[in-house]
Amino acid sequence: MATINDNYLKLKAGYLFPEIARRVNTFAEAHPEAQIIKLGIGDVTEPLPEACRQAMIKAVEEMGDRSTFKGYGPEQGYGWLREKIATQDFQARGCDIDASEIFISDGSKCDSGNILEIFGNNNTIAVTDPVYPVYVDTNVMAGNTGNVNDKGEYEGLVYLPITAENNFIAEIPTQKVDLIYLCFPNNPTGATATKEYLQAWVNYAKANDAIILFDAAYEAFITDASLPHSIYEIEGARECAIEFRSFSKNAGFTGTRCALTVIPKTLKGKAADGSDVELWKLWNRRHSTKFNGVSYIVQRGAEAVYSEEGKAQVRALIEFYLENAKIICSQLQAAGLTVYGGVNAPYVWVQTPTGLSSWDFFDKLLQNCNVVGTPGSGFGAAGEGYFRISAFNSRENVNEAMKRITEKFKV
Ligand code: MLT
Repeated sequence: MATINDNYLKLKAGYLFPEIARRVNTFAEAHPEAQIIKLGIGDVTEPLPEACRQAMIKAVEEMGDRSTFKGYGPEQGYGWLREKIATQDFQARGCDIDASEIFISDGSKCDSGNILEIFGNNNTIAVTDPVYPVYVDTNVMAGNTGNVNDKGEYEGLVYLPITAENNFIAEIPTQKVDLIYLCFPNNPTGATATKEYLQAWVNYAKANDAIILFDAAYEAFITDASLPHSIYEIEGARECAIEFRSFSKNAGFTGTRCALTVIPKTLKGKAADGSDVELWKLWNRRHSTKFNGVSYIVQRGAEAVYSEEGKAQVRALIEFYLENAKIICSQLQAAGLTVYGGVNAPYVWVQTPTGLSSWDFFDKLLQNCNVVGTPGSGFGAAGEGYFRISAFNSRENVNEAMKRITEKFKV
């Protein structure tokens, strides 16, 4: 009989969001009358920007005409899209990133998991706690950890707690690690990073020959002009960081699928023989072997994000979700709950009322208010006692959910 990858057996139950969906479905079956409002998974609800939609329609027409039809595109993405990203997302902010260092893909979730294929299995890996669960689970699958303990921590990973005590900003470790996952604006806490803080990480990474895996999926939600949008705004980051970005949360592409990963050609890792190897070459090899590119139609849609109309429409979407976040924060505060985040991020991180664990609060919200959020402990042991509420929903649903919560949870 074929053997399996035993590392999968180390994983805790289900992946967080399917597990939540399972519990919600069970509740919905038992209470078919309940009008459930989902503020759990960070999935967008508002339609695609018109500029993106029109660009995709035009691309569909091109695909229907022999003279403009496209077969396989470049695995790394079309040059016209990579150029726009390089100039508008990076160079315009002073980042020295070239279009050839940008790889278009179908998602940051996939890229942040797949990136482990170009690293060895003997790296010491640091994650914040709480953290986006994909970083942890993909390391478990890759065999980079031991078993899980009762607290839900995997042996071999270095956990950097982020709690109210440290303003949800991890301390720079005193020990040496090789790979560090950072996400700003943060999922799940909504915390942000200043340039000085990221500079401290870059200095650490350079001093320790470490690599930062920087997830900037929520950068478009930054409203504070002093905050960096990219790790490459930080001096020295070209030598120590990979950045993941997505069109999911800014342009509403969660169902359309388009993202990008930046690997500077100056970034190197160590081979077993001690030589330095460009990570760009390895990722390029992997990408062109295992991936055939994002569809032409979707890339044309993503390109439209950089047009004048596209920029205005994306801005309007971001402002809409940020206004939802503001409503969530102010309503929950008025109900006596302590909230964090939600200002430069679409997530509000709520302290659960005294005596209620994250999952207790989840159950109470579901049963009493028919509102779904995400239990903080699902993001890691230090997330216990917190609860994430996503601002991705219609205004009507956000207002209704807040009305139900404030009525039941006045503390
Ligand atoms: C989340 O809710 O944390 C996000 O939707 C996850 C993701 O983008 O994959």
